[in-house]
Amino acid sequence: MKPLRKAVFPVAGLGTRFLPATKAMAKEMLPVVDKPLIQYAVDEARAAGIQQFCMVTGRGKTAIVEHFDIAYELEATLRARSKNAELAMLRELQMPPGSISTVRQQEPLGLGHAIWCARAFIGDDPFAILLPDDLVMSNVPCTQQLADAYNETGGCVVAVTEVPRAQTNRYGILDIGSDDGRLVEVRGLVEKPKPEDAPSNLSIIGRYVLTSGVIEHLSRMERGAGNEVQLTDAMAKMIGQVPFHGLRYEGRRFDCGDKIGFLEAQIAFALKRPDMAPAVREFLKHYT
Ligand code: UTP
Repeated sequence: MKPLRKAVFPVAGLGTRFLPATKAMAKEMLPVVDKPLIQYAVDEARAAGIQQFCMVTGRGKTAIVEHFDIAYELEATLRARSKNAELAMLRELQMPPGSISTVRQQEPLGLGHAIWCARAFIGDDPFAILLPDDLVMSNVPCTQQLADAYNETGGCVVAVTEVPRAQTNRYGILDIGSDDGRLVEVRGLVEKPKPEDAPSNLSIIGRYVLTSGVIEHLSRMERGAGNEVQLTDAMAKMIGQVPFHGLRYEGRRFDCGDKIGFLEAQIAFALKRPDMAPAVREFLKHYT
């Protein structure tokens, strides 16, 4: 079984739910407390042993790539002002030379199309996908949990969580076979089913480990829900070809592509910070 060393970060979406903030700025650069969403995702992947990172970018997304570059002038100024803590923080951000690739998705034709755009990077290797707008707070990084499950089962593993049945039409939903409470066998996948048609209320979140075979299915460019090339539809075709499991990960997911989820993430992550939690708790009293 090939080790998991590659991750793809699709960041070419339009972010329409966040207009006007995302008119000229990438959704993935929105900060939760003081870190942009993309950095949470890259840090999570690095913590899971990922060594090669591919960002699928689009128009107006250059700041995302620049965020991981060395900022010589800024570092020189910080050094001159003895801002050592800030300098150390920037150093931690630095990625090994050559570890970040970018590919362009010229038109936002869907998540599946974005992944297909990274096909040369993926080659024949297994790869993780992290959607930066899904932010996961957990003890063990979510991608590490998936990598551990992949090392047990091989094939494809997707992170899953229970959602209210009324909300199945927002997510990719699993049809499940055996279930040991942690790992579930995936028998089918449906993108955004109506509550009455949903085979379960287990939904896929934006964390996946897939084998390269999915690219062949994506290359047919079949349109699915919303007339987009859906990753879920291509993954569904992998069932039966390779082992396919859902992992009930430990942790809490915040949907930061949605305004309420984003606000909740701000509060939850601020309350985890010893330097901020007392002040945040204090001001929250005024709003309850
Ligand atoms: P979303 O469904 O959140 O779409 O994409 P979006 O365009 O980013 O946001 P809204 O719904 O218009 O507000 C999920 C992930 O897939 C990427 C997005 O960047 C996001 O990380 N994506 C989506 C692409 O890279 N390309 C696409 O064509 C669509």
